[in-house]
Amino acid sequence: MDKLRMVGGMPLKGEVVIAGAKNAALPILCACLLTDQPVVLRNVPDLQDVRTMLKLLQEIGVTVTFPDASDRSHMVLSAAVIKSSEATYEMVKTMRASILVLGPLLARMHSAKVSLPGGCAIGARPVDQHIKGLKAMGASIKIKSGYIQAETKPPTERLKGASILTDMITVTGTENLLMAATLASGTTILENAAREPEVGDLAELLVKMGAKISGIGSDRLVIEGVEKLHGAEHVVIPDRIEAGTFLCAVAAAGGEVFVKHCRPDTLDAVMVKLKEAGLQMEIGSDWIKASMHGRPKAVSFRTSEYPAFPTDMQAQLMAVNAVAGGSSTITETIFENRFMHVQELNRLGADIAIEGNTAIVQGVEKLSGAIVMATDLRASASLVIAGLAAQGETQVDRIYHLDRGYDRMEHKLTLLGAKIERIK
Ligand code: EPZ
Repeated sequence: MDKLRMVGGMPLKGEVVIAGAKNAALPILCACLLTDQPVVLRNVPDLQDVRTMLKLLQEIGVTVTFPDASDRSHMVLSAAVIKSSEATYEMVKTMRASILVLGPLLARMHSAKVSLPGGCAIGARPVDQHIKGLKAMGASIKIKSGYIQAETKPPTERLKGASILTDMITVTGTENLLMAATLASGTTILENAAREPEVGDLAELLVKMGAKISGIGSDRLVIEGVEKLHGAEHVVIPDRIEAGTFLCAVAAAGGEVFVKHCRPDTLDAVMVKLKEAGLQMEIGSDWIKASMHGRPKAVSFRTSEYPAFPTDMQAQLMAVNAVAGGSSTITETIFENRFMHVQELNRLGADIAIEGNTAIVQGVEKLSGAIVMATDLRASASLVIAGLAAQGETQVDRIYHLDRGYDRMEHKLTLLGAKIERIK
């Protein structure tokens, strides 16, 4: 298993180019199942999770071609022929987002067999809302030996438009139901829909494919089903979590970094908190010039659904608080177990206590390097940030977690002057 080894204590300086958003690319790749025409995508991030999804789609029958062999971010997907409507346990257990083939397969093929995703480190993460919504659209769904077996009744029938109110705001739940509704007969209303920018990016592509969607960006999506969708071209939105991660790295380690190809307008809640912590930011339409001189100030925050502070940035801002002047409280309201990074940060000399779903962070002057272990994607990013701020050498084990959601982070950090290397 690969490790990252770094020597902290140096400020970051230079430019970083942000890749396409993982959490937009994953549903967008699945959207190609909704048509037999080719879908051309650009700015797709080159990540482990994307490679896993492409493998799953190819098993289903999608052909994936790269017009320019040297550019893995530009691809053409064609689901002209679907040879299997099944996502096996082997595929789904490595990546929960595989559940996103359920809605499109059901809409296109009128049947789908998708393994129930198991739990994961950060929580149980059930998919009951996905199932509730598809049932409301007329699908008959059985859970059998760990698989979701869904079909329209009779199989010749399309899904039917329905009014659906999810019990909580769910990002992939909204995406699954949105994709299914585009080919249903009649109108579907999704109340309590997720408003994350990645949901909006998916909706933009679906509209280009001929879907009739209104309310994009709001918590009420209205979809008028159509018979067929056609191909389209789309550039995936920049990754706001990758951009936020690099902003936290500057806030913790100090220095001046020019963050390019990002979307500042999707980072308001994060930038408000980082400004409070003392990060100076100059904002452009697709760039942020961030600089940090001196020690960050402690900022308390709580995670919530977009546009509030994103849970995917919680671990990273905790690493900044770990070295900040003062104490702060961090409340995680989305997942029940997303504090796995706390024990590892404490191994680096942080002073963090957990009380229920709140972490109390007493900022320390200096962290000191140690061997730590990544447990999930954003926890690993948090440990890298802490390692960059710590005195001495830090080694982060199990960085396959990091590779799921960041495209060669150590390479980008090296370009910023960090002393960091990957050990095979
Ligand atoms: C998406 O996960 C993201 N993944 C996650 O990013 C992100 O943390 C999460 O949204 C919240 O923003 C992708 O987009 C691929 P949810 P998702 O359904 O859709 C509960 C990362 O680091 N819930 O919005 O799985 C659930 O347990 C990853 O990039 C149900 O109870 O999250 C959670 O407590 C991690 N039943 C809450 O809702 C359901 O049917 C929000 O989950 C669905 C969800």
